[in-house]
Amino acid sequence: MNTLPKEEAARAILARNDRGGYTVPTDRLYPFQWNWDSAFVAMGFALFDVDRAYRELERLIEGQWDDGMIPHIVFHAPSDTYFPGPDVWGTRHRIPTSGITQPPVFGMALRHVHEAALATGEAAATERTRVLFQAALRSHRWWLTARDPEGLGLVSILHPWESGSDNSPAWDEALARVPTTTTTTIRRKDTGHVDASMRPRDEDYQRFIHLVDTYRDCGWDPKRQWAAAPFKVADVQMTGILARATADLMHLAETFGTDEEKVELTRMHGRLLDGLSSRWRPELSRFVNLDLISGHDVETPTQAGFIPLVALTFDDGQRSAIVAEIERWLDGMVVGVPSAPSFSPSFEPKRYWRGPVWAVINWLISDGLRLNGSADLARRIEQSTVRAIETSGFCEYFDPTTGEGLGGDTFSWTAAAYMALGRRT
Ligand code: GLC
Repeated sequence: MNTLPKEEAARAILARNDRGGYTVPTDRLYPFQWNWDSAFVAMGFALFDVDRAYRELERLIEGQWDDGMIPHIVFHAPSDTYFPGPDVWGTRHRIPTSGITQPPVFGMALRHVHEAALATGEAAATERTRVLFQAALRSHRWWLTARDPEGLGLVSILHPWESGSDNSPAWDEALARVPTTTTTTIRRKDTGHVDASMRPRDEDYQRFIHLVDTYRDCGWDPKRQWAAAPFKVADVQMTGILARATADLMHLAETFGTDEEKVELTRMHGRLLDGLSSRWRPELSRFVNLDLISGHDVETPTQAGFIPLVALTFDDGQRSAIVAEIERWLDGMVVGVPSAPSFSPSFEPKRYWRGPVWAVINWLISDGLRLNGSADLARRIEQSTVRAIETSGFCEYFDPTTGEGLGGDTFSWTAAAYMALGRRT
C-alpha cells in the first residue's frame, strides 16, 4: 500500500537506474556502482523488495579486493561519460574498480536488509546474510589495519573522495599541500553534465588526480600508500559510520559469527568508540577531524561533526549541546542540515559539499538523534527533507537557503532516503 505521494516515482527512479542487480547513482554523471550509494539504496529496496536489496549488496561485493577493501566504484560495464575511468586507476582486481574506498555504510545496510528479510520470511535470507557478513567483517579488518595502523581508534582517508564529501571545506587546508602536478591527462566529464559553478574547481581536481597518480605508483599497496600519502585525515564521519556498522555486525555475529569473531568485533568497537570520543570538542559542540600530516585539529564546521551521533550514546549535557548546535545550523534555512553552516566563511549554498543538503546525510543525522532520544529534532529534519524532495524532485542535493534541487536529478539514494524518511514522518 502506498502512503507517500511520490512513492511510485521513487521506485521508478530505482528501476530506471538499475543496470542488472546494481543501481547507478544517476544516469550519465555517475554511470557505475558506487559503494555507499548502494548501501543506502539497499536499505531503500529493503522496504519493498528484499531480494533486490540483497542483490545490490552482493553486486558491490563482486568488487571487494582480496585484502578486504570495498572500492568506492565498481566499473561493472564500460561508459565514457565519467572521468577518471578504469585506465586511470590501473587497479588489478578481477573486475575493474577504483583504488580508494568510501564510508562503510555496508554493515549498517546488511543488518537492515537481514531484518527486513526476517520480517518478510525471505527463505534464502540466512545464507545470503552469512556470506555478506563475512565480506563486511573482512572489510572492517582492512579498515583497522590499512587505515589506522597507529592504533588511534580513528580511521583516515587518503583522498577526499573517500569521505563521500568530496569537496568539503574540511579538506581545504590539507588539500592545499597536495601538488597540482599530474602524470594523468585530466578530461573532466562532470562539468559537461552539471553547471561548473556547483562542482569542484579545476585546481582541486588536479590535486585529486595527483593523489590517484601517487597511490597508483604505490601499486595500491596500503602500507606504501600510508607512507607516501601527502593527504591523511582521521575523519569523524568515516569513523562514526564504521563504529556504528561494527555495532551492527556485532548484532549479526550473534547469529552468524564464531566466538572469536564476536570478541574481535567487540574489541574493534571499543577501540573506535574510544577514538571517536576523544574528538568531541565541548567548546564547539561537535566532533572534529585530525589532520595527521600537520598534527592539528580541523575545526572547519561541516556536517561530519554530527555524524558520530550514529555510534555514540551521549550524556544529557552533550546531547543538549549538540541538539542546540544543529538547531543553530538550521536557523533561517528552508531545509537542513547544511553541509556547512551559513555563518561559516566557506559557506556556498550551491557548491558541492560546501553548504548544500544531502538527503542521506539527514538520514544518518536523524538516525543518530533518534538513537540518542532526540526524536523531535530528528522529525523536523526528516520532514523538511521529504518536503524538499516533494517540491523539487529527487535531486542530488538541495540549496538550504531556498530548497532548490541541484546537481544531477533522478538520484537513486535520494529516492531511497525519501522512502525511508517519509515512512517515519
Ligand atoms: C559524489 C559524492 C559521493 C557519491 C557520488 C555518487 O562523488 O560526493 O558522496 O557517492 O557522488 O553519488
